[in-house]
Amino acid sequence: MYKKEIKTNITFCSIDELSKQEKELIKAAKRASLEAYAPYSGFKVGSALLLDNGEILAANNQENAAYPSGLCAERVVLFYANAAHSQHRVLSLAVAASKEGMFTENPISPCGSCRQALLESERRQNTAIRLLLSGEKEVAVVESVASLLPLSFNL
Ligand code: THU
Repeated sequence: MYKKEIKTNITFCSIDELSKQEKELIKAAKRASLEAYAPYSGFKVGSALLLDNGEILAANNQENAAYPSGLCAERVVLFYANAAHSQHRVLSLAVAASKEGMFTENPISPCGSCRQALLESERRQNTAIRLLLSGEKEVAVVESVASLLPLSFNL
């Protein structure tokens, strides 16, 4: 028998401590959040990703009256990137959320299904995806999706 300790490093910082490009990515996620289609939860999430050619893509959560048919912001933008820009790697991805036009105080973190999808992209492109999880109070920076999903499923 043996035990394994799994550690995750998360850096918390203020928006001012980020680079110009990182601030731009968070701004794009916030902008997208305000355009989300979330009439059922009222929780509007925006996600923006940076491709290795410098291009930024942004999207948001899309809900549906048949609840499970909706999709989180992270997977909408990730799947779009993989569908339309498959020759480019995703270097980083920002997430921001708002309710009634107010952005959340604390950083919001991708759900388990989004972590699994993001992890597969990370493995596929053989390059870590840096996560910038935005809150008004602080931003959480995670250097790779793998560190958010220990013992993940893999075929
Ligand atoms: N949601 C996201 O878009 N991303 C997350 O990381 C967490 C949750 C969406 C799903 C649903 O439309 C709404 O937020 C409330 O759960």
